[in-house]
Amino acid sequence: MAATETQVPGISRREFLYYIWTASIALYLAEFTGLALWFAIPRIRDGEFGGVFNVLPDKIPGVNEPPVDNAEGRFWLVNLDTTDPTGIERMYQASDELGEITGVAAIYKVCTHLGCIYKWNDASNRFECPCHGSKYRLDGRRIQSPAPRSLDRFSVTLNFTDGTSESSGTDELGQFLPVQLNGRTVESMQVDTGSQKKGVELTLLQDLV
Ligand code: FES
Repeated sequence: MAATETQVPGISRREFLYYIWTASIALYLAEFTGLALWFAIPRIRDGEFGGVFNVLPDKIPGVNEPPVDNAEGRFWLVNLDTTDPTGIERMYQASDELGEITGVAAIYKVCTHLGCIYKWNDASNRFECPCHGSKYRLDGRRIQSPAPRSLDRFSVTLNFTDGTSESSGTDELGQFLPVQLNGRTVESMQVDTGSQKKGVELTLLQDLV
């Protein structure tokens, strides 16, 4: 004998289950879409801020030491030297880099993939992005994708105790170069976050080893 359908006042059991099923699918799709948008929309957009930040000289890290965070200016300060064995696991020379990399640079704290805030990882000696796993060397060069290019940099001006001062030059690819110390002592320093230059698309460092 065919089973009689249980009746819920106003709607049948079959209709009730259909509505529940439809609502579940709609909820799942809404969550999926929300998650996709969360990943796709940059956390911070380029050009939201800009200005010159005065930085105390003692905020410049030692050669190849871990970077120093400037939270207000949204940059990391690094002091690089591929010729110095100190901390060379953080700033090693890659096989496609002919010249030495030396000097002080300011690196924008936003990942070049989709704009997440990446962090320095003391254990791995890398900048690492928590969103999709991009990794960068101490100077911001890409080690691992999905980041499409190296980290962006800001212009740095160093004023020395001998009365000289020097600002970031640019290389042939248009990226800001680190400012060399050449044994001079820094008296004061400015980082211009209004002068952002995009990181370049060099070979992934992981593909060179
Ligand atoms: S935002 Fe995707 S790896 Fe950083």
